[in-house]
Amino acid sequence: MTRSRFITLDEANLKGKRVLLRVDFNVPIKDGKVADDSRIKATLTTIRYLQSAGAGVAILSHLGSPRAAIYDSDYSLAPVAKYLSQALDQDVPLIVEWLEDLQVSPGQIVMLENIRFASGEKTNTDALARKMATLCDVYVNEAFASARREQSSVHGIAKYLPLAYTGPLFVKEVEALDKAVNNIDRPLVFVIGGQRRPEIKFELLKTRFEDVDKILVGGVIGNTFLKAANREMGKSLYLPEFLDLSRELLAQAKTQNKAIIMPVDIIVGTSMDDESDAVIKKVDALEPDELILDIGPETVALFQAEITPARTVFWTGPLGLVELDKFQSGTYEVARSIARSDGYSIANGGDTLSVIETLELSTAYSHLSTGGGSSLEFLQGKQLPAVSMMEESARVRYAVEREY
Ligand code: 3PG
Repeated sequence: MTRSRFITLDEANLKGKRVLLRVDFNVPIKDGKVADDSRIKATLTTIRYLQSAGAGVAILSHLGSPRAAIYDSDYSLAPVAKYLSQALDQDVPLIVEWLEDLQVSPGQIVMLENIRFASGEKTNTDALARKMATLCDVYVNEAFASARREQSSVHGIAKYLPLAYTGPLFVKEVEALDKAVNNIDRPLVFVIGGQRRPEIKFELLKTRFEDVDKILVGGVIGNTFLKAANREMGKSLYLPEFLDLSRELLAQAKTQNKAIIMPVDIIVGTSMDDESDAVIKKVDALEPDELILDIGPETVALFQAEITPARTVFWTGPLGLVELDKFQSGTYEVARSIARSDGYSIANGGDTLSVIETLELSTAYSHLSTGGGSSLEFLQGKQLPAVSMMEESARVRYAVEREY
């Protein structure tokens, strides 16, 4: 019998068991409320499944980067517990002191306070991992978004548990992203924009440069390539620390006859607020007091010409200032083209997913990744620590089974 690379929940006997469910609810909180619930929504099915199978479910997550060993209410998961109570239509209490004694009865769901308040989490200490392992009968890792971290609750703990399962969202992320790494239907097109995690995005472009068929860039990443190509940038935002790498990639593109497709026309403004007009221009017509705030219609058409025949598209990051209506059209049109394309489509990142949701296109994408930086590192071809650990758990378990 062919064994899977992970031990999945359908192999688990959960009745009456205390389950420690590690999720990644590192979500933005605004005015005491969850501001983007995509990561939470993506795990609700797993939580309900565990509860209906008769388990007591203790949900474990980090939020932000508080100082270890000090409680800080700014990083409390209380807003998440409140969100869960509403979403699951039952009381989901927040347990603040849970490390010494975890009480959770069958059928109950509790949210544990931020694991990063515990000393030893970020340093992956064995003592903490071992202690957490004693609190449960079953551990489920559903935190793919934390898989790039070698930390106690996503990595160390699995060593100390005979029953470490990989959750369905985690498995789905690995299988879906693998279609843009090892199991590729070509042409493979990357659409890279946005402001967040530029270091991982540039590393991704560098590591996959030879392998990706077409690279389309916009937003601040696109601006950085335009600057590297000696364009006047006016007041546009770009990333000076990535100019050298952008120049190297452009030079490499020339020698390898490979296109990095940059904006040829743009929508410009004079400020990043509603006061500004929005004017379509050729990229070389930018005035010194203007900023690039979206890609223009000609660029959209160029991008569409690559996206439509692609068999696999990976998109991360908006291509303009989508917070303002007048600078949304480029990103929105590209979002629609990817949704229309017949190939396998993957979108990643909070801002990108929220555009897709606003346009009600979620079901038209093959995979909406909630994995953030972990997804980007996975796409670089990196072996993520928590993925390795869950694979190792499966290898050990199946080896033991074979002996009997
Ligand atoms: C993420 O959002 O990338 C994950 O939740 C990991 O968070 P971290 O960068 O604080 O480890």
